[in-house]
Amino acid sequence: MAESTFCRCRETTTWTRARRFLCLWMLFLTVGTFMLTVSVPSLNLSWFMTMTHTAYNTLHTSAADLSPDDPSLYFVPYPNQYSITVDEPHRCWQERPFLVLMIPVAPINREARNAIRNTWGKETTVLGRVVSRYFLLGMSKEEDGTESINEQVLEESRTHHDILQSDFLDSYKNLTIKTMVMFEWLSSRCPKSSFAMKIDSDMFLNVRNLVSMLLKAPQRLYMTGMVARGALVLRDRTSKWFLPVSVFPEDYYPTYARGLGYVFSLDLPKMILEASAHVKALYIEDVYVGLCMRHLGIALTNPPRGHSFHGMVPYLTSNCYWTSVITTILGSSDQLKRVWRVYQSHDDCSHF
Ligand SMILES: *[C@@H]1O[C@H](CO)[C@@H](O)[C@H](O)[C@H]1NC(C)=O
Ligand SMILES: *[C@@H]1O[C@H](CO)[C@@H](O)[C@H](O)[C@H]1NC(C)=O
Repeated sequence: MAESTFCRCRETTTWTRARRFLCLWMLFLTVGTFMLTVSVPSLNLSWFMTMTHTAYNTLHTSAADLSPDDPSLYFVPYPNQYSITVDEPHRCWQERPFLVLMIPVAPINREARNAIRNTWGKETTVLGRVVSRYFLLGMSKEEDGTESINEQVLEESRTHHDILQSDFLDSYKNLTIKTMVMFEWLSSRCPKSSFAMKIDSDMFLNVRNLVSMLLKAPQRLYMTGMVARGALVLRDRTSKWFLPVSVFPEDYYPTYARGLGYVFSLDLPKMILEASAHVKALYIEDVYVGLCMRHLGIALTNPPRGHSFHGMVPYLTSNCYWTSVITTILGSSDQLKRVWRVYQSHDDCSHF
């Protein structure tokens, strides 16, 4: 009984408090609305639009403000006289390598550089020929912490003498600039060399098979790799390599060597640079090199039979797979280290 009285009593108190609160709330709303009406000229439509637009911009990249058909999205600023800020001005000329390996990599990706230095990139004399490697870097992005990365890159350069850095922003969309800067560097710094290969940092490379193939290859007007002929231009807007008809009206890409890894004789860089003055710099780097080759009227060469530039790792690989190919795409630096151990433990497989 006492309990129930107590309860009812508390209920009444609570309800009274709620009523008082509601009354205050109503008063507050009324006054608020009145104030808002009085000050409405400062909360006008233009202010509202500006705020919405700012919020929209913070949510979307600046590229999204452009229509997907805007040509500026598909071309890069080249030629543009980029300079090499970290260089090896004499090394190639002095060493006269038979083959120069050029590896594009982002400044922040030191792990990939070290994995390559400890695997296929450490082979400096292969079948009696000198081979050397260089990493190609642009400038690191602000969000990656420019200062510490620059310092680390300089330190790597002093230790390994294998860094080439240029003053354009390193980004996926700027790969064409990186490749063209590579051609500039090769044509001015490697006059005594025969071949170069542009190879991505996530690849397996069998340098021995590559040199063996190049010993029989023509030293002029030569480019090979994974040669794509009659490939359809991607018109799907969600594709990473989408190109609108207004930017690239042809249905097929020109014949080109896939960017994962292609090899060329060192008379080509100068010619490709000359062609680039007449061919607008498309952001898809391997297709752009293909367009320059077409402009020059130079045909690409298929690799000789049995010398394979592979894409993905096949589902079933025999023990001798890694000794039989030239390239294969891998997923990570750790995978490269693992594959390298497998490759080295199979000396019993015959090389071709
Ligand atoms: C509307 O707001 C904008 C931005 O705050 C201001 O510049 C403009 O003068 C305002 N217009 C009126 C009519 O109050
Ligand atoms: C490409 O590099 C240029 C030159 O540094 C820079 O202005 C531009 O913003 C970069 N573009 C992209 C998409 O990163």
